[in-house]
Amino acid sequence: MTRGARAPANNRQKVMAELGYSQGWGVVAGATRISSVGQAGLRYRGYDIAKLAETVCFEEVLHLLVYGELPTRRQLAFLRDTLMEFRRLPRPVVDVLRSIPTDTDLMDVLRTTVSLLGHYDPTHGDTPDDLRRRSIWLTASIASLIAARHRFVNRLEPLDPQPGLAHAEELLFQLHGETPDEEAARLIDLTLILYAEHDFNASTFTARVIASTRSDLVSAIVGAIGALKGPLHGGANERAMEMLAQFHTPDDAAAFITRALERKDKVMGFGHRVYRNGDHRAEILEAALRRHAETAGAAKWMAIYDAIKTPMVTEKGIHPNLDFPCALTYHLLNLPVDLYTPLFVASRVAGWCAHVIEQVEEDKLYRPLSAYVGEPPRPVPPMSAR
Ligand code: COA
Repeated sequence: MTRGARAPANNRQKVMAELGYSQGWGVVAGATRISSVGQAGLRYRGYDIAKLAETVCFEEVLHLLVYGELPTRRQLAFLRDTLMEFRRLPRPVVDVLRSIPTDTDLMDVLRTTVSLLGHYDPTHGDTPDDLRRRSIWLTASIASLIAARHRFVNRLEPLDPQPGLAHAEELLFQLHGETPDEEAARLIDLTLILYAEHDFNASTFTARVIASTRSDLVSAIVGAIGALKGPLHGGANERAMEMLAQFHTPDDAAAFITRALERKDKVMGFGHRVYRNGDHRAEILEAALRRHAETAGAAKWMAIYDAIKTPMVTEKGIHPNLDFPCALTYHLLNLPVDLYTPLFVASRVAGWCAHVIEQVEEDKLYRPLSAYVGEPPRPVPPMSAR
């Protein structure tokens, strides 16, 4: 590299390759017992995601991730009671939820109010057992924050939690004020299960890095929310729906995708760093979505969905990730787009908390090295020579 020249991106890649480094992917950054992610399958603590999606509910997954095992009947009942105990938001947090300007991105509202919530934490302590209980408090509270804010934006007052409802049902009840139908609750529950954990993704890694400094649980979760917001990560489900919503017919969608592929545009809800031949979670949700679309008379939407998916897979070899079927699932459940990434938070908080606990147990500071590709050593020029 000549003196004074900045390393262009492709040169940076070359230098990194020569040094034997990858640029932030494909590097093992640590060990985990929480989940395994790979083309061969996704497992939460050894259990296949397809089997979990078929047989358990989100609360059981929450227990599995945070406590390490699926709950017994008694443990599940206790967990549900604890969630219920923590659903009610502190008054000062409700006041701030009401006062933030209505056009503020809901992810920004969540980031602020989760941070604020930390000042009113009814649970205490930083031992792994304390953190497990605090994980349940955060999971319950985050669902309530999302629902309360949604109601304020729509000029409605937040609702009191309803005892006896499962977490997905409670979430829908607090949003809409009606007992949700079984099919809607089951679909929301499925998305919560599928989004709950995904090893060292960007937001989880953020949470672990924060936890590794012996900071606190709430700081780790606030940082993770910031990381999840980006459209290359959790924000993709909202961008995917904004894309789908532009089309009136499958032909419109097909024309759009031809242009996008020609221009090498990134299509939201497609591609994955780890899954190169398809995302298992997307396949599970897509099957449920197809069944729902059939009964809901939404064949047009599935045709638009397929008009995007088919050329992406056949011409580009790029498969949908979970965000693509999730976007349409939420849309068919009449949920507004600004709730999509916050609903991802409502689920992934379980995985984030599990990772924070694991990191606290390990008690090792993350401090990666970088490969320096900048200017060679040079003298500091005097002001007159710059
Ligand atoms: N749409 C169109 N092309 C895509 C694509 C997408 N969503 N994802 C990857 N590609 C293309 C790249 O442009 C590249 O093409 P090229 O070889 O012709 O240059 C090729 O596929 C390889 O992509 P690469 O950049 O190696 O993928 P990545 O691992 O860096 O990217 C993502 C992974 C997730 C960042 C990327 O797929 C993406 O931006 N997806 C959209 C956002 C999204 O859905 N995020 C949620 C992820 S769960």
